[in-house]
Amino acid sequence: MGYFKVNGPVKLHGEVEISGSKNASLPIIAASLISFDEVVIENVPDLLDIRTMIDILESINFNVSFSDGVVRVRPEFENVNTNVPYELVRKMRASFNVLGPLAARYGKAKVALPGGCSIGVRPVNFHIEGLEKLGFEVTIEHGFVEAKLVKPNNGKIILPKPSVGATEHLMTTAAAIEGIEVVIENAAMEPEIVDLQEFLRKLGVEIEGAGTSRIRIKGGVKRKAVVHKVIPDRIEAGTYVIAIAATGGEGVVKNLDSEHLNSLWEVLEKIGVDLRIDKNKVYVKMEGKPKPVDVNVSPYPGFPTDLQPQIMTLLTVASGTSYIKENVFQTRFLHVDELKRMGADIEITDGTAIIKGVEGLSGAPVNGTDLRATAALLIAAFMANGKSEIHHVEHIFRGYENVCKKFGKLGGKIEYVGVKEYIE
Ligand code: UD1
Repeated sequence: MGYFKVNGPVKLHGEVEISGSKNASLPIIAASLISFDEVVIENVPDLLDIRTMIDILESINFNVSFSDGVVRVRPEFENVNTNVPYELVRKMRASFNVLGPLAARYGKAKVALPGGCSIGVRPVNFHIEGLEKLGFEVTIEHGFVEAKLVKPNNGKIILPKPSVGATEHLMTTAAAIEGIEVVIENAAMEPEIVDLQEFLRKLGVEIEGAGTSRIRIKGGVKRKAVVHKVIPDRIEAGTYVIAIAATGGEGVVKNLDSEHLNSLWEVLEKIGVDLRIDKNKVYVKMEGKPKPVDVNVSPYPGFPTDLQPQIMTLLTVASGTSYIKENVFQTRFLHVDELKRMGADIEITDGTAIIKGVEGLSGAPVNGTDLRATAALLIAAFMANGKSEIHHVEHIFRGYENVCKKFGKLGGKIEYVGVKEYIE
């Protein structure tokens, strides 16, 4: 494992361009499994998680290529290996979402139980119950989940919580079953789900409602080649906007879809950040101390859990006490102890972080625990006085394309000590 060395404080300034969305690309690449013809997916970021999804498709003998942001998937009809091994699934939770599509297309499939970010207990019970409702027989044995399509069932699936992964998994699985008619209630409403719906429509699937809590699907894929361009990464965009504001900098974040981040704009305006918001770019400037705020982290259109560690970092130097209530992953606070090592004053009670603003942070060696926590620690290192080292930093390469180059362009120099292939 490598580490980042950063010398702070740095006021980030300049322009940065946002890549395609990781969380939209992953379910779309997984959904290409159900196509009968070549699929071309554009604007795909070059990230470890994307490489893992491609490795999964290759492990089942699909023909996949990836260069210059374009993934091409050619379907395979014979010699498909429908067992996905633990060594691939443990790297990323979203790998699990190939189970239903594979079993729908080839009759049965077996996928290891997932790993992924260590941000609390992340079960797959909604996925399994949903597959059973669709007519699969599901068995769990020796760390693997096997699904067999017994008899497709029409009807309604009511998700206990609006899970992003379960919504996407069940949408794609139902889409692959010819003639099935299904409604998913209490569906997640994230923009990535709308993008998946667009992709499934291009495959000829009759589907509507993504972006609301009720999605209707009539299964059936037509034989046709499709080209799809994924949406911009709203979490990457939000991270750069917060980083510029947190360092008292000034800049323009380009190639985003500003409508996907309304909850962030609302919070930043309360904090006192000067924002000029256009459809595809945002100008950001911060002067003086941030004002304290209350943030309620909740499913879309609420404030995203994937920006919670970053906004908390900004609030460590606010002119008073802020509160962040985490309603998605109640134990997603692994970054808190690391921020405290840099001088932050944070306490956690009942899923709420109480952040008392301090004068400033000081550089320290810290440990990246998961993808977004590591991004938050990088922001903290730019804010802090003195040298910081961020260890276990490879998490960041799962979700931020060209992170060293992009921050470098904003004046945030990062020295990476570790495996070179990650930054090339
Ligand atoms: C996705 C995103 C992740 C983001 C999260 C919440 C991808 C690849 N990842 O993760 O970046 O942080 O949405 O916005 O898109 N739950 C269950 N049982 C299940 C499934 C989920 O109890 O079977 C719970 C989870 O523990 C959590 C909540 O539902 O408390 C939401 O999780 P979910 O939306 O499923 O997250 P992911 O899809 O894993």
